[in-house]
Amino acid sequence: MAGLCEGRVAIVTGAGRGLGRQHALLLAKEGAKVVVNDIGANVDGTGRDESHAAQTVAEIKKAGGDAIVNGDDVSSWAGAKNLIDSTVKHYGKLDVLINNAGILRDRMLVNMTEDEWDAVIQVHLKGTFAPTRHAAAYWREKSKEIGGPVKAAVINTSSTSGIYGNVGQTNYGAAKAGIAAFTVIAARELRRIGVTVNALSPSAQTRMTEGLRELTPEQVAMRDPKWVSPTVVYLASEEASDITGRVFQAGFGRIAICEGWRRGAEVAQVSDPREAGRLFREMLPKVRKNSGMDGIELD
Ligand SMILES: NC(=O)c1ccc[n+]([C@@H]2O[C@H](COP(=O)([O-])OP(=O)(O)OC[C@H]3O[C@@H](n4cnc5c(N)ncnc54)[C@H](O)[C@@H]3O)[C@@H](O)[C@H]2O)c1
Repeated sequence: MAGLCEGRVAIVTGAGRGLGRQHALLLAKEGAKVVVNDIGANVDGTGRDESHAAQTVAEIKKAGGDAIVNGDDVSSWAGAKNLIDSTVKHYGKLDVLINNAGILRDRMLVNMTEDEWDAVIQVHLKGTFAPTRHAAAYWREKSKEIGGPVKAAVINTSSTSGIYGNVGQTNYGAAKAGIAAFTVIAARELRRIGVTVNALSPSAQTRMTEGLRELTPEQVAMRDPKWVSPTVVYLASEEASDITGRVFQAGFGRIAICEGWRRGAEVAQVSDPREAGRLFREMLPKVRKNSGMDGIELD
């Protein structure tokens, strides 16, 4: 049976470890040629070690797949451009971009430093924008050349921390909510050239999440990254070319489709702030509350 992504060329950022590694392995198993990008940073973004990316490539090759290492920093404009350009140069094309690279610098808001804010926004938000921007330019040219849709896919990585809101992560959560918004907007812009843009909100046991909570061995097994990658690989396939602008949750026992902001109760505008306050108090009991970290409404 042909693989779901047979012949497709895919970039996975941050694929030396954790979720990215698992996405790369499954993509290769399903027939994709994979560019394994990773700078090999520590969880907080410091340090460099390309051996992790090389290890993922070696695993793919050992299983009979095709993959190459890329060590560009995805949060740099030039690094992201080189990632896209060198992929097209090596494999002759690009079909799939999986923006997965990430770091953490958790701190309560009152103590958060400028560096902790900037580093997290840089890696997640710019590290999603920059590769997607350069890939989009490549796909727009290709679409002009072939005179039709390019059948390409972008899968970004959001988080329950951003879409639902986790205490201690204003930097990370703002970046991840920003990535969800970026996904919806980019999907609307790129639809006409045949590029889907979806986001993943994963839940898995990796070095980023280990030690955060007490887990039974059964729960650890349910949080294996292998439960997340099937969602990514399906969205990367040509079969999913009609699915775009969505946020999917995957891992720890479930796959789910998240629903975004929508207007709840409304009344006609007023000029008096006291009247606005009175109306808000009438409307507030009628609208759904924001959800908790489990994605369910808070009571
Ligand atoms: N593990 C979870 O439960 C979970 C939950 C929500 C979201 N996420 C997100 O999933 C993604 C993967 O996380 P993970 O848990 O596998 O963590 P991880 O630390 O195992 O992997 C992240 C990888 O990104 C790489 N990286 C960091 N900065 C980079 C840069 N500038 N350029 C290229 N590579 C870079 C790191 O070297 C690392 O190998 C992240 O975006 C994370 O925020 C994970």
